[in-house]
Parts: sequence; C-alpha cells; structure tokens
Amino acid sequence: MLPRHGFGTRSVHAGEGHDPTTGAHGVPIYQNVTYAFHSYEQLEAMRDGSAPHFVYTPRGNPTVRCLEVKLADLEGTEDAVATGSGMAAISATLLHLVQGGGHLVASSDVYEVTAGFLCQDLPCHGASATMVDFTDVAAVEAAIAPHTRALYVEPFSNPTLRVADLAALAAIARRHGVPLVVDNTFLSPALLRPAEHGADLVLHSATKYLSGHGQVQGGVVCGPRALVSAIRAKVVRLGGAMSPFAAWVLLAGVKTLPLRMERHSANAAGLARFLAAHSAVASVNYPGLPTHPGHDTACRLVGETGDRFGGMLSFTLRGGDPALRAFLNALELCTLAVSLGDCGSLVWPFAGTDLIRLSVGIEDYPDLEADLAGALARLEAAAAAD
Ligand SMILES: Cc1ncc(COP(=O)(O)O)c(C=O)c1O
Repeated sequence: MLPRHGFGTRSVHAGEGHDPTTGAHGVPIYQNVTYAFHSYEQLEAMRDGSAPHFVYTPRGNPTVRCLEVKLADLEGTEDAVATGSGMAAISATLLHLVQGGGHLVASSDVYEVTAGFLCQDLPCHGASATMVDFTDVAAVEAAIAPHTRALYVEPFSNPTLRVADLAALAAIARRHGVPLVVDNTFLSPALLRPAEHGADLVLHSATKYLSGHGQVQGGVVCGPRALVSAIRAKVVRLGGAMSPFAAWVLLAGVKTLPLRMERHSANAAGLARFLAAHSAVASVNYPGLPTHPGHDTACRLVGETGDRFGGMLSFTLRGGDPALRAFLNALELCTLAVSLGDCGSLVWPFAGTDLIRLSVGIEDYPDLEADLAGALARLEAAAAAD
C-alpha cells in the first residue's frame, strides 16, 4: 500500500487483494492446517528462503498474514505477528525480551493480568520487573538497572486513564539502549501510533477496539522485522498463534476502526463532561478533560484538534458502596460486563475499590446520556429517601 493513502483507506485496503486463484473480493478464511509442496525441490527452496511458502498454520496462515500486514501498515511498523489473545502477545514479547534473566521497568498502572504476569510469572523464569509511576519520567530512569531489557507502558492506563509521555520515555529508552514497549489497546492506531513517538514495539489486545464487536479474541505485536520474527518464534513455541477464523473476523472489524474510534471518542468526551458536572459524581478520569493532569501530554499524543481521546473513562460516585450498587442496578442501556472496545457501552466496577470503568460504545449520544442521567437520578432519590 502506498504511503500517500490516508488512514481510512489503508484500514480498508492494506494487506488485502483479490484472491489470486478465484478473484474473491475480500480475504477468504484459509481454514486449513498444513500446506502441500509439489516437489522436494520446492520444499528445499522454502527451507533456504529462496521461495517462501506456508508450511503449517500455527507458524503462518494466509488469512492471518493478511491481518498482520494490515496492522503493521496501520501502526507504521515493518512487520507484525498476530496472537491468540492480548496476553499471548504480551507474554511472548516480554519473555523474549527478558530471556537469560533480564529485568523490565514497567508502569505500576497497567491491566491487572499484565501486572500479574510481570510480578508472578517473570520471577519463575529468573526475570523480574520494577513497577514505577510512569508519569514520573525521572523515577522511570532511576529504576533502570544494568540488566534492564525494556520499558513497558500503557499510554492511557487501564483503568485509571493516567497518561504517559511516550516521547520522553522513548528518549530514556534510547539513552539506555533498551526498547520501549507500548500496549496501544485503549487508543488503537486510529488515534495513536506509538512508533511515531519513538516506541519500538506496539502491542494490542485485538479482542477490544481492533475487533470492535466483542466477537473474537486476539492480539498483535508490531515492530521491526527482526524483532517481530524472534517474537513470532516465541509465540509458536508457546502455542499462542491466532486462528484463521479470528483473523478473518478481525479483518472485517479493522475496516471500520477509524469510523468507530471517532464515534467512541465523541461519545466518551460528551459523557466525561456530563459526569464531571454532575453532583452525584466525585471524580472523573478522562484525558480529554482539560482538568485531567495528563491533558497536555494527551494532546501531544492524539493531537490538539477534535475529540480524539478514545472511548475509555473511569469515575467514582459520592456515597460509597450503596451509591455504586444503586447506580449499576439502575442502568438500562449500558451493560454490566467486563472488557472494552465493543460497539455497546460496557460498565465495570473494580473489586475492592469504588472505581467504575465505562467503555463508551457507539450508540446515539442522547440515549447514553439519558441512561447515565436516569441511573444517577435514581441513586440521588434513594440517598434522599434514606
Ligand atoms: C490494556 C489491555 N491490554 C491487554 C489486555 C489483554 O488482552 P486479552 O484479554 O485479549 O488477553 C487487556 C484486556 O482487557 C487490556 O485491557
């Protein structure tokens, strides 16, 4: 795909072409496991690299490869490898980077299962991670040790929406000769391309916005060809390859990614402003709000113009647990469910805290605001009756 094409055009066309044998428009699902060679000589040519050929689907599949080429194009990296889940992408990447007993400096504010992997699983492999506040770049640099192999961050963190200054982190990573690894799940390449800010590897849970419809599980690692190739080998050895069906569903989802992200962002910006002004709400975390401590940094990441801050926000209510319970039970349109990036709005309370995360969907804005307003009115009425 030529670079003169815009992001929307590349979301539709990159990595895709008409099927060379049938002319099928749209990538078919190659739902097969093994590939035939017409001669021993062809097999030899595949092995010495002179004539590439698919061998075995867990190591490479035409449908999966089309998705990888599309996502590398959209993230602006040389290559990509697709995986069976976001955690497969994260675990294979980090295990590759820390092999031989390495150390990571990771943000203390990351997806809870990633944090579990860093703190519980890495030590089983003779490796370790130091978790620091990534909004404090001096603390990040101070945590780097001689055996540090990478920096790891979510630019808008899950679930507290803290904002990391990728350019400053990339400068630190370069100074110490280690890669900056970025989980771009929350924003997607439609809003942020971390490689443009100096990141070396960009990861996703494709289960979220890349899919967009909550129908499939997947992950991807985008980066330089040699590094992606080494991570691909790790993915294969760990059994973490993406299925052809998941890739096919994702190819459809990614085509509408920029349209969906625009709507998610506009709806979330409206709801963040609505919640921040409501008397029943104690606090709102949304980097698009000018009052958010990371707002200026967020503007440098996603651009100054328009609502481009993504569809994720979190907030707390006045009134503690009874308020939280009354609010969640009163919602009619937003679904009480984990995960994010779905067309439908999903709301999730974090156990042991009073934080509520809202993955804002692409419904009509007035309906979403009415749902939240109705639930907040019910909890205020319940509190007044007590
Ligand atoms: C930011 C982030 N990264 C990674 C993951 C892991 O993705 P998966 O559930 O596809 O393994 C998640 C899952 O919620 C996530 O929110």
